[in-house]
Amino acid sequence: MSTNQVPFFRPYIEELELNEVLDTIHSGWITSGAKVKRFEQEFASAVGASRAVAVNSCTAALHLALEALGVNSGQAVLVPTMTFAATAAVVRYLGAIPVLVDCDPLTNNMNLLDASLKLSRLRDGKLLKGLPRETAVSAIMPVHVGGMMMDVRAIDSFASDHGLRVIEDGAHAFPSAWRPGPDEPWQRCGERTAHVTCFSFYANKTITTGEGGMAVTDNVEVAERIRSMSLHGLSQNAWGRYSNAGNWDYKIVAPGYKYNLTDIAAAIGIHQLAKAEKMRQMREGVARHYREALADIEEVELPADDSNRIHSWHLFPIKLRLDRLSINRNEFMEKLKEGGVGCSAHWRPLHLHPYYEETFGWRPEDLPVATAEWKRSISLPIFPGMNGEDLEHVAHTVRSVCARHSRVYAAGLL
Ligand SMILES: Cc1ncc(COP(=O)(O)O)c(C=O)c1O
Repeated sequence: MSTNQVPFFRPYIEELELNEVLDTIHSGWITSGAKVKRFEQEFASAVGASRAVAVNSCTAALHLALEALGVNSGQAVLVPTMTFAATAAVVRYLGAIPVLVDCDPLTNNMNLLDASLKLSRLRDGKLLKGLPRETAVSAIMPVHVGGMMMDVRAIDSFASDHGLRVIEDGAHAFPSAWRPGPDEPWQRCGERTAHVTCFSFYANKTITTGEGGMAVTDNVEVAERIRSMSLHGLSQNAWGRYSNAGNWDYKIVAPGYKYNLTDIAAAIGIHQLAKAEKMRQMREGVARHYREALADIEEVELPADDSNRIHSWHLFPIKLRLDRLSINRNEFMEKLKEGGVGCSAHWRPLHLHPYYEETFGWRPEDLPVATAEWKRSISLPIFPGMNGEDLEHVAHTVRSVCARHSRVYAAGLL
């Protein structure tokens, strides 16, 4: 159990979710069935996609999306170094090579200029040790860090220019939207923003099913491949076989995986989905409060905002101005925890993990922005159930750690 006065995250689950779970259990059908179907249909319509396939994690959705789009061994995929393990691990599941791309220092989102640079260095045989020059780069995997969307039009034209498929890791980006300018219409994450977009319903995500994920696409064949591969590569699922309308027989069309979501999880998801925008607005309120309460603290930089983005506010990342502090990021996090504030850091970039360093020879200087930014990043608590006292406590603790360890202040005292 968390000993923090304010935990990093607490899910917002109410009676409706509990009653739906009980209803599912009492119904006698607890694995993938009618509730998963309903969750898929309602989710597809919430993001503006024609097809949605529910699975048991975003990792599974990303894996199946790459597989369905034909990514395989001998190919390379552009992946931001500033992301969670899953985005690159799924590339390795298929034997393909993740080519890591640096981030933009304001948002920590992938920098497309660096993506272009990495492509040319790869072509010149200068980037990754031992990687054949003729290795084809087949896809790009944008991540909208914290729920702040990238410029989708720029990704689209970059992908078209280089013949890449786009598999969007939207783990943080539901509900998020962007528009190119104030006079242009909003486009939701998942609304034709990629060939396939994948979402996470992990415990601390913007909506949760405990564990869970969704792949959305407008491509019928891709959706059908993902669906079949999520359940052993069968021609039809158990619901189809055992329900009155179904046929008992099935055929194995490929050696698939076991990634299906249960009706128990979907029961939670249906009600989380119905209040997704309400919960987003509650997190937006938290972000607004932090902005006001922390605005004058010179030791911290606040996250970027943009009137052409609807931000899901999955994360509220602050960046420390280390030149103004006498402690480093890890020490700062310790002080927050001592003050009863749960916090996290997103993320140690992939190129600074032993597997990627040792397997592909990545060095800190290959992705200098991410190397520098992660050393000063801290994510503060942000979740719908936070009350005024929680918010005051977090802001007060950040302020007092800064005051106690400010170089500028200490210098003034001498
Ligand atoms: C950016 C990103 N992608 C993918 C995932 C994987 O999600 P899941 O736990 O649902 O597999 C996460 C989880 O934290 C994430 O942050």
